[in-house]
Amino acid sequence: MPENIFAKAKKSHDLFKDERFLYPEFVPERLPHRDAEVDALVFSLQPVLQGKKPQNVFVYGKSGTGKTATVRFVLNELQQYSDRAKGLYINCFQFNTRHAILTQIANFLGAPTPRRGIGTDEAYSQLNAVLRKTGFVPVIVLDEADQLLHQGEADRLFYDLLRGGEQQRGAFGLIFISNQQEFTARLDARVRSSLGEQTVCFEQYTPQQLKDILKERVQYAFHSNALDADVINVAAAHAAKFGGDARIAIECLLKAGRQAEKENAEKVLVAHLRKVFPQIDAAVLQKSIGFLSADELAILRAVPANSQIASGDLYGAYAKSVKKPVTQRQFRTLRAKLERMRLINCEEAIKGAKGRTVMISLAFPKAKLEGTAGRESETIKKESRN
Ligand SMILES: Nc1ncnc2c1ncn2[C@@H]1O[C@H](COP(=O)(O)OP(=O)(O)OP(=O)(O)O)[C@@H](O)[C@H]1O
Ligand SMILES: [Mg+2]
Repeated sequence: MPENIFAKAKKSHDLFKDERFLYPEFVPERLPHRDAEVDALVFSLQPVLQGKKPQNVFVYGKSGTGKTATVRFVLNELQQYSDRAKGLYINCFQFNTRHAILTQIANFLGAPTPRRGIGTDEAYSQLNAVLRKTGFVPVIVLDEADQLLHQGEADRLFYDLLRGGEQQRGAFGLIFISNQQEFTARLDARVRSSLGEQTVCFEQYTPQQLKDILKERVQYAFHSNALDADVINVAAAHAAKFGGDARIAIECLLKAGRQAEKENAEKVLVAHLRKVFPQIDAAVLQKSIGFLSADELAILRAVPANSQIASGDLYGAYAKSVKKPVTQRQFRTLRAKLERMRLINCEEAIKGAKGRTVMISLAFPKAKLEGTAGRESETIKKESRN
């Protein structure tokens, strides 16, 4: 009798203890190198313990710097510690209109509010009616709050929430999270002045910090000695290249572990990591291109595939390719953003009699831009074009 095909597929080397510890949705209970950020959040939220209004908090930082994980962790701890606070976490990718968010909050506060068939103002008055009666302080987290700017919904929503808070003698906490430090600058001045009580910035992780995060996680996810000595270092260095993104570091380990198991290897080796890097890099690139505005994409498209172009020439080529180009000054802001996102490389050069110029090249294969469409840029819409 030949061996059953499933018996044959059974791994002889079990490397993962439990790979779920490496899944993106896992919320760790220990967050190395985020003590200061945790303390700042605790400080802002602690008035809740006396039933008072917490400070509103604006959390910002680049992708994968632990904003979501840290805020969720603090919220969990707060709820476990005291009945006086209840947190509602809202991801604005999922709920991106004022209507959807107000409905979510009303439901959370205990007023059954259907999402359809009810006006936004009605949802808001239901929310307020029930808010007056709640015996706890609601702490609302709006994660990925940038999504509200794309929808143009942010000002009204924040205004509603702040006004709701006032009616409750202010017992309402708001934590909003964004990738952009400039987020609040893009809100209405009135809203901004009542919002920005406390700001917590999440810096990029250094390679050493990423190593510590990985070491901690590996203990739960892998059997002991399942990783070759250098694997953590190489994964951390790779993620450091992408702006110190812990998500990438963790994903590298998950994918490399699966690759090693597929090959029935005794250990996860650096070679397994190297095999999965291209796949991870492609996904990162796809994600960042997906976030770009139509103007940013048009600028990228105007960069030649395999050579450098002077910044002034790039502006000219871009301006010809769109109906309403942004101003030169706005162009320089977008150029800097694309460089920060590692989509272009900028190099200072001496150019003839004109003096210094910035030479720009693409940091990825141009073919990846095919079939992509950008969003209308909010920043540019607000400012005048020329
Ligand atoms: N200090 C840390 N310790 C342990 N795990 C961490 C730490 N920081 C981040 N992580 C993990 O890295 C991943 C990314 O973190 P998180 O989702 O919090 O990033 P983010 O700042 O919210 O990114 P984005 O802006 O893309 O939403 C998660 O799996 C999270 O658990
Ligand atoms: Mg997040």
